[in-house]
Amino acid sequence: MSTPTTTLPTHDELATPVGTTLERYIMRKQAEFPFATGELSQLLRDIALASKIMVREVSRAGLSSLAETVGPEGETTAPRHRLGEEAHIRFVRALTNGGECCAVLSEARPDIIETGNQDGKYVVALNPLNGSVSLDFNVSTGTIFSIYRRVSRYGGPARAEDFTQGGRAQVAAGYILYGSSVMLVYTTGHGVTGFTYEPSLGEFFLSHPKLTIPAQGTVFSCNEGNWFDFPEFARSFLTTCKERRYTARYVGSLAADYHRNLFTGGIYLYPPTGEWPSGKLRLLYECYPIAFVTEQAGGVAVTGATDVLDVPPSQDLHQRVPLFVGSAELVRELQAAAAAAAA
Ligand code: F6P
Repeated sequence: MSTPTTTLPTHDELATPVGTTLERYIMRKQAEFPFATGELSQLLRDIALASKIMVREVSRAGLSSLAETVGPEGETTAPRHRLGEEAHIRFVRALTNGGECCAVLSEARPDIIETGNQDGKYVVALNPLNGSVSLDFNVSTGTIFSIYRRVSRYGGPARAEDFTQGGRAQVAAGYILYGSSVMLVYTTGHGVTGFTYEPSLGEFFLSHPKLTIPAQGTVFSCNEGNWFDFPEFARSFLTTCKERRYTARYVGSLAADYHRNLFTGGIYLYPPTGEWPSGKLRLLYECYPIAFVTEQAGGVAVTGATDVLDVPPSQDLHQRVPLFVGSAELVRELQAAAAAAAA
């Protein structure tokens, strides 16, 4: 009788490191900045912690009616879902417990939320769960966040001015994509880094040390149902895309559509429409952070003729703007068409 042979793992296989955790990466980066106090690092960890809880909740969205709509009216664009509400609570709680964040602006609430950490140096604007209307149908969703150092006096309450410093004042921004895998992508202004969640270990691992978006692409992403409301320059740009036989891809969740185009090259468009004459997406917690990531990845984000990061924020903390974002050459082509139309 022959003895069954077993293949044992080699020493080298077992010695292969699992990789760099988000935690370790943040600590390493912090050490590179001599005057860093560690507070921003802690803030990023808080965001990662809340996102891990959301990974668990989103992955069981079909169970326990978790994805039910809780009301027709958020403060925002779409019916709110239980999970959207839960995401809001989880992120605010994590940022409150961390201590570095004095206030949060969330898509789910009309007003600034004070965390009680009046000595906290930072404020965070976020869309806790974009695309949540599609959760019932297993579509990818995301959390988008933007971080500022406060300009109001430490020790006192946060003010609207902390959130309206303008896109170029962001100290960090990014998003978490809850998709076929979960990724956390962020920038602190030194390039864009991507981490992939390993569910069995409960950790984000460095998977994309330097993300860059291809300068050109052949994917266009928009809700074409709004075609007849689109401004002429957007229609003519899209017609050109079709003449070139580009590919249409649209999930309807900004983080998911953006993330795909970041890898493949392409353009995401949300022009003004009849329903949303100023554009649908929110400047402070969707367009600014996505634009910051995009510029750091070598891409371009505009509202038409203007770069998103140069759009001055209004008094309205939930201000909407049009968004065209993605590969530099494609977006600049669109921008030239918008500028010509405006002339
Ligand atoms: O946050 C607004 C948002 O849900 C985005 O995530 C998404 O890209 C867009 O609206 C979808 O809008 P529509 O359903 O009009 O295509």
